[in-house]
Amino acid sequence: MAREFTSVGVVGLGTMGAGIVEVFARNGIDVVAVEISAAAVERGRATLTGSTDRAVAKGKLAEADRDALLARVDWQVGLDALHSVDLVIEAVPEHLDLKQRIFAELDRVCKPEAILATNTSSLSVTEISVATTRPNQVIGIHFFNPAPVMKLVEVVRTVVTSADVVADVEALCERLGKVDVTISDRAGFIANALLFGYLNHAVSMFESRYATREDIDAAMKLGCGLPMGPLALMDLIGLDTAYEILDTMYRRGGRDRRHAPVPLIKQMVTAGLLGRKSGRGFYTYERPGSPVVVPDEHTPVTTGGALADGARAIAKVGIVGSGTMATGIIEVFAKAGYEVISVTRGAEKSAKVCEAVKTSLNKGVVRGKLSEEDRDAALGRVTWSATLDHLADVDLVVEAVVEELSVKKALFASLDEICKPGVVLATTTSSLPVIDVAMATQRPADVVGLHFFNPAPIMPLVEIVQTIRTSAETSATARAVCAALGKTGVVCGDRSGFIVNALLFPYLNDAVKMLEASYSTADDIDYAMKLGCGYPMGPFELLDVVGLDVSLAIQRELYLELREPGFAPAPLLEHLVTAGYLGRKSGRGFRDHTKR
Ligand SMILES: NC(=O)c1ccc[n+]([C@@H]2O[C@H](COP(=O)([O-])OP(=O)(O)OC[C@H]3O[C@@H](n4cnc5c(N)ncnc54)[C@H](O)[C@@H]3O)[C@@H](O)[C@H]2O)c1
Repeated sequence: MAREFTSVGVVGLGTMGAGIVEVFARNGIDVVAVEISAAAVERGRATLTGSTDRAVAKGKLAEADRDALLARVDWQVGLDALHSVDLVIEAVPEHLDLKQRIFAELDRVCKPEAILATNTSSLSVTEISVATTRPNQVIGIHFFNPAPVMKLVEVVRTVVTSADVVADVEALCERLGKVDVTISDRAGFIANALLFGYLNHAVSMFESRYATREDIDAAMKLGCGLPMGPLALMDLIGLDTAYEILDTMYRRGGRDRRHAPVPLIKQMVTAGLLGRKSGRGFYTYERPGSPVVVPDEHTPVTTGGALADGARAIAKVGIVGSGTMATGIIEVFAKAGYEVISVTRGAEKSAKVCEAVKTSLNKGVVRGKLSEEDRDAALGRVTWSATLDHLADVDLVVEAVVEELSVKKALFASLDEICKPGVVLATTTSSLPVIDVAMATQRPADVVGLHFFNPAPIMPLVEIVQTIRTSAETSATARAVCAALGKTGVVCGDRSGFIVNALLFPYLNDAVKMLEASYSTADDIDYAMKLGCGYPMGPFELLDVVGLDVSLAIQRELYLELREPGFAPAPLLEHLVTAGYLGRKSGRGFRDHTKR
C-alpha cells in the first residue's frame, strides 16, 4: 500500500515553490509553506492568490474551490513549522551549500519517517542527501515551470533512495495528475540536460548580435512550434537560476563548453536583470512578476509602409527548381499576387510542378481556405518555362534547386549574366554558405538567403540570411517580400544552420547521445520534452519525421563549421543511418513504423 500524504511542506516560495504549493493544495493536500522572512512569505502568498484568481477569472476554478485551496495553505517563516509533515519539497535557490544546510536542518526538524525531496534542476541529489542522517528517504522531485501547468515530474532516485520511497513518490505524482519519469541522479536529468545547451547557445547568438532577441525567439516558435522562444524562456526560468543550472551542469556534466554560461548571463544577473521576476531580463515586463512584455529601447520599430526602409519594388519573381521547396514557393508567391516565372530543366518537369501546384491549391479550395477564383487567379499568374533566359526582366529570383554547391554556383553565374541589374538573387539553401553562392556572381551585394521551411505554403517562417556582402537594400527588400508573403522573416548571419537548425539539431543529437548512454528510454525522453517543456514532438519522434540521414548531414555541417566537440554526431545516429534506418521514410528509425 502506498503511503498517504496528508500534509506536505514546501520550502522556498519563489518561481517554483509558489507553483508547487498550488499543485498540492489543488489536489486536496494540506501544505505548510515556508520562507525565510515575512516579506518573502507575502510574495509567495501573492503569487498563489494571483494564479488562483486568474484561474477563477478564466472559469477554470470555482470561487469556493479557490477558497478551499487557499485555506489548505499554512504560511510560515522558518523550518520549525515542518515538524509533522509527511513530505517536504525544497525549492530554494540552486546552491549546493544552501540546500545541504537546509536538508541538515530538515533532518533535525521533521519526523523520522518524513520523506525529504529537492526540486533541484542540476545539483546532485546524492550530495544533498548525505547532509541528512536519512539519505535513503531523500529523493528528487523535479517539477517544471509553471508547476501547475506542466504535466511532467522527473523523479530522481539516488543509489541509496529506498525502493518504497520511490514507489510512494511515483504514486503521489499520479495523484497530482502528473506524468512521472523516474531516473537516476545525473546533472540536468533528462529535460534540462537537453534544454540548457540550447538556451545557452541562443544567448550566445544574441550576445554576438547574430540575430535580434525577437528574431531568435520567433525562429524557434515558428520554425519548431515551440511554446516560447529561448530568450523568453530564460526570462521565465530566471537568469540567476539559469546561470546556476548551467554552471552546475558544466562542472558536473563533463565540462562541456556548451554549458559554460555565456558571459552576458552573469552580467545581466549582476545588473539585476533576472527576467520576469525582476521585471526585466532579455525583455522588459509591465512590472516584476508580470508575463506582459512592454516595448523598450531594443523593440524593433515598424516602418508601416513596406518600402520605407530602402526596399526595392518587386512585382515579378523567378523561381528556379522543380522539387518540393520550389513547388511550395511558387504557390506562396502566386497566392500573394506576384507574377511568377517558374523555370525547370524541361517541359516534362514543368508539367509535373504545375500539376503539384494545382493539386495543392485545389486542396485549399476543398478545405474552404481558398476560393475557386483566387485559385484560378494564382495559377494565372504563373508562367511555366524551361529556360533561364526568361528571367531577364524579373525583380527577384528564388533559387530552390538541388543542395549541391557546384550546381548552385553554376546557376548563380548564369543568373548573373541573364538578369537585369538591381535584381535580388535569393538562395533557399538550408546548409550551404550563402557567401559561396554570392561570390559566383559579380554582384554579391544583391545576393541573400531566403530559407523557407517545409511545407512552404504552411510554415510561417523564413530565415533571411545576410552575408558579409549583402547590401542593406537587398536585406530590406527580402524583409519586405517576406512581409508581403504573410511570412515572418527573421534576419540572421551566414553561419551553418542559420538560427533554427543550429539550435535544433545539436539538441536532437544530444538526445541520441543520452539514449546511447542508456540514461533513459526514447519514450521517456520524448515525454520529458513534450510534457516538461511543451514541445510539440519529442526528439525521437522528430528525428524519425525529419529523417536520420538528413539530421546527420546537418549535424555534420554544424560540427565541421564550428569544430565544437559537443556537436560531434552521436555514433548511434551514424550507425542507424548506415543500417538504413532513416526514420518514417524507410519504415524504421528510432521506432518501427511498419507495425503502426
Ligand atoms: N525556475 C525554474 O524554471 C525552475 C524549474 C524547475 C526547478 N527549478 C529549481 O527550483 C529551485 C528554486 O528555483 P526558483 O527558480 O524557484 O528560485 P527563486 O529564486 O525564484 O526562489 C527561491 C526562493 O527561496 C527562498 N529561500 C532562500 N533561502 C531560503 C531558506 N533558507 N528558507 C526558505 N526559503 C528560502 C527565497 O526567498 C526565494 O523566494 C532551484 O533548485 C531550481 O533549480 C527551477
